[in-house]
This record gives sequence, C-alpha cells and structure tokens, in this order.
Amino acid sequence: MISSAVLSDSLERDIFAYRSQFPALKDRTYFNYGGQGVLCEAALDAIAKNFRHIEAIGCFSNAAGEWMIAEYDATKAAIAQEFQVSPNTITLTENTTVGCNIALWAVDWQRGDRLLLSDCEHPGIIAGATQLQKRFGIEIDYFPLTSTCNSSVRDSETVVELVVQHLQPKTRMVMLSHICWNTGQVLPLKAIATACRDRHVLVAVDAAQSVGVLPLNLDDIGADFYAFTTHKWWCAPLGLGALYIRSEIFDQVEPVFVGWRGLTSKTPIPQWRQDGAKFEVASSTYALYEAMRIAIATANSWGTQQQRYERICQLSQVLWQKLNALPHIDCVRQVAPESGLVSFRINPKTNPKIKSVQKSYGAIAKQLESEHQILIRALADPDCLRASVHYLTSIADIDRLVSIIEILV
Ligand SMILES: Cc1ncc(COP(=O)(O)O)c(C=O)c1O
Repeated sequence: MISSAVLSDSLERDIFAYRSQFPALKDRTYFNYGGQGVLCEAALDAIAKNFRHIEAIGCFSNAAGEWMIAEYDATKAAIAQEFQVSPNTITLTENTTVGCNIALWAVDWQRGDRLLLSDCEHPGIIAGATQLQKRFGIEIDYFPLTSTCNSSVRDSETVVELVVQHLQPKTRMVMLSHICWNTGQVLPLKAIATACRDRHVLVAVDAAQSVGVLPLNLDDIGADFYAFTTHKWWCAPLGLGALYIRSEIFDQVEPVFVGWRGLTSKTPIPQWRQDGAKFEVASSTYALYEAMRIAIATANSWGTQQQRYERICQLSQVLWQKLNALPHIDCVRQVAPESGLVSFRINPKTNPKIKSVQKSYGAIAKQLESEHQILIRALADPDCLRASVHYLTSIADIDRLVSIIEILV
C-alpha cells in the first residue's frame, strides 16, 4: 500500500513552486493530461517569439530556410534522445493518428491478409483499420484485452499468450496501445514484440498514452512502429507528433502520402531519403518546434523519466485507493495503477442512499468543470470518469477531487 506520506511534504512544496511555470494550473484542478497537457510559460513565449522571428528575418528568405532546417534537426534530435534511438528512425507528424495511419498503410496488404487489434483501441485506429479492410479486402481480428485489464504488467504472460493465440497464418500486423486509453493498463510490449517478430508479424504501437509517462528505450522494446503525439503527457503544443520506425524494417515498408520532405536534392526525382523523412510530406509549423523541445527539457529538469514515472504511479495509486475507499465508487481496474490513468464509476448498489446514477458521466464532468474548476474526462466505453494523474499533479489536487466526488452524488 502506498500512502500519501511516501510523497513527502517537501516534495509537494517543490512541485508547487515548479508548477508555477504552467499558467493553466493556476486556480484549476487539472486531470486531463491524457487528453491534452498544459504548456509552460517558456514554451508559450517561444511560440510567439518564433512566429515573429520568421517575419523579422523575411518569410521564405534563405535565412528563414536555414533557420527552419536547424529547428527541424534539433527537434528530431531531442525526440530521438528521449528514446535512446537515432534521429534517422524518427518521422515528424502532426499527431498519433497520422503516425498510426503511416504504419497501417505501410504494408503491402493483399486480399485475405489479417490485421490483429486489441479490443481496447482508440476509434481513430479502428477507423484506419476499417479503411484498409474496405480498400484491400483484409480481415480484422480482435483479441480480448479488456478481459485482462486486471492483470498487472508483471503478469505479462497472459497478455502475450493472448496475442499469440490470436495470430493466424495470414496475420501481417498487430496494432495495439502501449497504455490503454480507457483502463490505463500497461502492455508488456517488449515481450509482445519479440513473440511477433519470431512469427514474422509486424508490431505497430499507438503510444498516445505512454510517451511522457513510461521510461522508454525504443530499440530495446523492439516494436516496428511507435506512433505518438507530444501534446498530451509531454505538455508540448497541439499539432506535433512523431513516429519511430525500427531501422531493420525500413526497406520493407513504403509511404502512401509523400512530398518534398522525403526527397534528396538529387535528380531525377524521386530519390528518397533513407530515414524517417521519407514518410514526411511537406511544409509544417516549424515555429512550434522549439516549444516542443522546451516542454521536453522542462520535464527533464524535474528528475529522470524513471523518477517521473514513479511519481505518476505513486500519485495514481493514492487516488485509486482514496476513490476505492468511497462507498459509492468502483475503480475500473482492481489492481493498483501502473500508469497515470485512473478510471472509475459510481456504483449505486454500494451506497443505499443512491437509488441510481442520476446523471451521465458527461454531465458530471461538465458540473465538475463549471462548479469546481476540476477538469476530468468522461468516457463512453467503459462508461466512466477518467482522471489523468501527471507528475505535475499534487496530493492537494487528488484530495480536492476525492472530496468533491464524495459529496457529488
Ligand atoms: C490511445 C489513443 N490513441 C489515439 C488518440 C488520438 O490522438 P491524436 O489526436 O494525437 O491523434 C488518443 C487521444 O486521446 C488516444 O488516447
């Protein structure tokens, strides 16, 4: 059992001082990092500064071009460093879903090939898979990950066996989340990737909820594609994401959308760059890149990836225990959280005073926001509320949420 005491008073004082860099956390209790993170002042300043800078040095001038190339290189290097991989493995995108689409469409699908998904994937991913089915006549299989939501990442065998059991001779790719967006379950990705590679099946990962939460060494994990956004747990601006492609599969996969960013300057065109840029298309908002690097550097000024992950787990366990202690609340997972996502629902049966849940979770989330300035997400499947606990979260935030939930129904 983890108690609030593990998170010492002095640490909580430090986090309060550190949090003053994030204007959105002032006078607000923020539990929506799984939707979008909050920007620090320095990142906000850099966005405005860089838009002005481009105007000042001359739009489309040689100087602006050189500045953009330097921004691009520095940003890829900063991302790659976080995952201990080469910048050549990184493709810059706009968000997680674009990266997942690049992975899904990179395969030379043939009629009758199979794609395996978990039953916990995000609607955007299911939409992509369905388009592949329509276009190429592939089959989509689902494995019942939800049924394992009470196993911890340490019981990795159950989940790996489940994936392996659902592989068929024509399965060419498995696509799954590293952390499930609805339950917060962490998947044993390295073991899954190894099992799939042994069977010549590609592994594509939706990493929307894991980047900025888990300590990550992507070459070591060995997944073939790892797609993420930076605007959630990394607290970078909206509109910037990236995709890691394992260098060993680079020659086997092809982009669908292409453009000048993927080309070398040699003629005759096309001659492709042999790095992640091959999967990029054209102009993007370079003025945001510095803010992303600042977001990463700011996180790194508060301990290591491992230390931040430990704090997230400790805090989410505190929240999970306090919610479970309320008579009318059930947490969706029966085991202590291993990520920052804590989903819970109101259970009228355990509190005789409540005859039924009077309001939808969407209405409860709206009420929490309008009356208490508590920002939390309502989910449809499972029907519940989801609190995202970040290393920036404080014990006071948790106590406030729990005290309001206690009296809300
Ligand atoms: C697991 C998962 N996948 C994909 C997405 C979509 O992310 P993006 O808007 O970066 O494409 C989300 C967003 O909440 C998510 O939680």
